[in-house]
Amino acid sequence: MAQSQSLNGKRVLLIIGGGIAAYKTLDLIRRLRERGASVRAIMTRAAQEFVTPLSVSSLTGEKVYTDLFDLTDEAEMGHIQLSRSADLIIAAPATADLMAKMAMGRADDLASTALLATDTPVLIAPAMNVRMWLHPATQRNIAQLKADGIAFIGPGEGDMACGEYGPGRMAEPLEILSAAEAMLGAGTGPLAGLKALVTSGPTHEPIDPVRYIANRSSGKQGHAIAAALARLGAETLLISGPVNLPDPLGVSTKHVETAREMLAACEAALPADIAVCAAAVADWRVDNEAGQKIKKEKGGLPQLSFTENPDILATLSKLNHSRPRLVIGFAAETENVIEHASAKRERKGCDWIVANDVSVDETGGGVMGGEENTIHLIRAEGREDWPRMAKSAAAEKLAHAIAQHFSLSDEGPRS
Ligand code: PMT
Repeated sequence: MAQSQSLNGKRVLLIIGGGIAAYKTLDLIRRLRERGASVRAIMTRAAQEFVTPLSVSSLTGEKVYTDLFDLTDEAEMGHIQLSRSADLIIAAPATADLMAKMAMGRADDLASTALLATDTPVLIAPAMNVRMWLHPATQRNIAQLKADGIAFIGPGEGDMACGEYGPGRMAEPLEILSAAEAMLGAGTGPLAGLKALVTSGPTHEPIDPVRYIANRSSGKQGHAIAAALARLGAETLLISGPVNLPDPLGVSTKHVETAREMLAACEAALPADIAVCAAAVADWRVDNEAGQKIKKEKGGLPQLSFTENPDILATLSKLNHSRPRLVIGFAAETENVIEHASAKRERKGCDWIVANDVSVDETGGGVMGGEENTIHLIRAEGREDWPRMAKSAAAEKLAHAIAQHFSLSDEGPRS
């Protein structure tokens, strides 16, 4: 099968740090190049203990840069030029030391100098021993780097080369690749120039300061849709309820707790061309929320009274002037899936509805919180039944259906 040229013409500067995971960057270079990117590499001194500049340069097809004070390099390409001429800088493996230098703004070797001398987006793939990752000093540096706008991919959790277990394993080359694609995707692709908003995850509706009502939505489906839309070039805002997922790369994320906050965030994001409401918004909230923790010792059972939450999907669908051009709702059903979902599409006034069966399966799991989904896409013109697939694949398919919809409509982007 022909390899996608998703990174055609993109220039990546890869900074290879000194860790055992450095060997994985050889595969990363190969995959970046397969997708059409050109790759220049800087290696720290320690990185050269793990992989040789010769191997790296054979794969990049370019000279490998190692030394800040190499006058030939300065004549050929200064370190400032080296980092500024890239569309994306990837630091992998990003060691504790490299991250500390970045957080402090130090520039005492070519890698740290290139990272300081640029305003190019930076993606880092940390890799280190679990104790080093969990150390308060590293955690402080992580917080600083995130505040500085550095994007992170990983680290993953698992067995480590040092024999310990926990967070600290570098993300796999394919994961780094898709993060890079997401970061480089904005502005190009079939949805370029369009603005999308996506809701995802559950909402938490407070009972008192410590208790709330929630549901089993993990946000996996909605987050994957936001990432897929961004990969196709849409300027994407993800409005997420409380989830345990990292913010997707290439997407702006706004975190909210309640249905009312989610609605306010959606309204603040308008105008938009596309709205995908994948969040499992609580239909009701407690209208006698207690200001203090409800005490068991008081005796009796608390009397909760409920009121209806605003319906975000219906609100967006029924707007007059600022209605997104394509409003897509989800229908989470446990019986008569198609019938209920079709009725929901009519009632709420959205253009498309994505029906999924959220019954609990024989393993005690299911679509909510699970990794896979079986979708029925219901539109005015008919229904498509998709086979069961990974939520990321379903998101990709939905994003392509959206792109096709806009390619068939002759309206340009909303100004
Ligand atoms: O998060 P995951 O674990 O990955 O699971 C994905 C999912 C099952 C949550 C997702 O695929 C899904 O079905 N989301 C919609 C869940 C839901 O709330 O369905 P509903 O049938 O109750 O609501 C219908 C539509 O109205 C939805 O688009 C919902 O976002 C919207 N709604 C509902 C209530 C409300 N007050 N405001 C809304 O906008």
